[in-house]
Amino acid sequence: MPLPRRRPQPGVLITFEGIDGCGKSTAADRAFAWLRERGDMVRLVREPGTTPTAEAIRDLVLLSKNSIDAVAELFLYEAARADLMASQITPALQRGEIVLADRFYDSTTAYQGYGRKLDLAMVNKLNRFATGGYQPDLTLLFDLPLDIAMERRGKEPDRLEKEPRAFFERVRKGFQAIARREPRRIVVIDATASADTVFNQVKRTIDAAFRRWKRT
Ligand code: TMP
Repeated sequence: MPLPRRRPQPGVLITFEGIDGCGKSTAADRAFAWLRERGDMVRLVREPGTTPTAEAIRDLVLLSKNSIDAVAELFLYEAARADLMASQITPALQRGEIVLADRFYDSTTAYQGYGRKLDLAMVNKLNRFATGGYQPDLTLLFDLPLDIAMERRGKEPDRLEKEPRAFFERVRKGFQAIARREPRRIVVIDATASADTVFNQVKRTIDAAFRRWKRT
């Protein structure tokens, strides 16, 4: 398994990605508790959200009963990201902390780029603009068939979860395409397994990445 190379910033950014219902948030919560217990300086953020401004954008983009144009939606996610980067992620990485992000810019590429079929080059450009060029050191992609993911979702669908099945098929394929392009950064986790089995794989992957980063 090719392992990611550590970026120059003192901290470490690990992102958790996948389609709705893939189990990434449970795994991110458990990884946060595990690293904190080990005594690491670790912080857990979610996208869109975490800061008051980004949480307000989250409510707008996920709970609005009005339709939102696809380009407007793209900018809302990037706006939430820019605010979270400036106020939390960038300073934490510069202080040398470990930041766990429940979704990051790969979600924009997968949902707005592949799902909404927006221009991928433009989406990538805006991702870079919103993050100031920061990239995850390691990304865990929780992959599973759509049928299982849909069964696992909460009862009340949000605005995105109301999209048709074909949309989520494109999003899943999008995530898989991103992972194929960046095998050093992105590790695909088989998310069909039990939560415990998935979490053990998450721990092994993070441990292996930490060992490698200390060596290089
Ligand atoms: P969550 O429920 O996993 O927190 O994700 C929020 C929803 O927003 C989920 O349906 C995925 C979607 N999303 C995008 O479409 N683009 C993005 O850039 C992000 C971060 C999330």
